[in-house]
Amino acid sequence: MTTASKQEYTRRATHTYPSPNAMRDEVLAGLQAAPKALAPKFFYDATGAALFERITQLDAYYLTRSELAILDARVSEIAALAGPSAALIEYGSGAGIKVRSLLDAMDAPAFYVPIDISGEQLERVAATLRDDYPNVDIHPLCADYTRPITLPRREQSHRRVAFFPGSTIGNFEPAAAASFLRGVRATVGPTGALILGVDRRKDRAVVEEAYNDAEGVTAAFNLNLLVRLNRELGANFDLARFRHKAFFNEDASRIEMHLESTEAQIVTVAGVPISFDAGETIWTEASYKYDLPRLERLAHEGGFRIRQLWTDPEKRFWLGFLEAVDSPMGTAAPRD
Ligand code: AVJ
Repeated sequence: MTTASKQEYTRRATHTYPSPNAMRDEVLAGLQAAPKALAPKFFYDATGAALFERITQLDAYYLTRSELAILDARVSEIAALAGPSAALIEYGSGAGIKVRSLLDAMDAPAFYVPIDISGEQLERVAATLRDDYPNVDIHPLCADYTRPITLPRREQSHRRVAFFPGSTIGNFEPAAAASFLRGVRATVGPTGALILGVDRRKDRAVVEEAYNDAEGVTAAFNLNLLVRLNRELGANFDLARFRHKAFFNEDASRIEMHLESTEAQIVTVAGVPISFDAGETIWTEASYKYDLPRLERLAHEGGFRIRQLWTDPEKRFWLGFLEAVDSPMGTAAPRD
């Protein structure tokens, strides 16, 4: 990974919630950088959120199915580890499907705080969950959760258990993933825990197929970013002149998604001309795949220890129950 792209990822992890101005500034900075890159959070306008839901139903996209299989098989163990009357905080609650089995299995969960960047979907999901779980206090938070989160005071007096499923942690460059986990560790406190879903490193063919589905839903999801920029930033991307590209980068252990310019062209974004060489790409997403040593290192650097780790019968996905360690690295006396 080049220094430029490392800086790019550091920047991605500290951005603000995209108000129109912030979004314009960040998009322009990303398109003026070399290499060009945009943060994956920009995928999730209403259309993008709906396209992602379709991705999760695809045969090729094993991640969601594998994770749900583990959750199904292990939910009572997870609930027992979480303990009674906990405050459950979900980072990136999306369609709000996975949390239901957790809420069903947990012993009198007191609070559920779904955090998501897609405000419309968040309100809809929270309303439905309130109907279905009248005894759980539900506080949706529309936010960019890569920023520090402040919880309402009442949640603070309950054991806080974070839930970060779906391999979304894979969107972070490894150093940023560790610092994100340290932020979660700060939010849940010294008695807190984290239920973490992580995609396992595996055969190139299986993982590349998951990001190059035959139906073209992933391509549509990627290209929808340009549709969004055309609408929200007055850009003039011609969708016929960009194509979806996704491949496994073995050295970095990540899927990279790009939008490739099929020819040399100049596009205007928020009044600013952006030129593309033929074959030049906008890097739109990284999706890191973890083997066990990498996952253990991530947990350690994030201030957690792995209490339990489960996988599915096909060994495609990890679901871990992580507990906060008393003195996480960098915030107290050095360990060992
Ligand atoms: C939501 C970040 C977990 O990386 O697999 C799916 C997003 N991108 N297909 C992933 C995604 C392309 C997904 N995450």
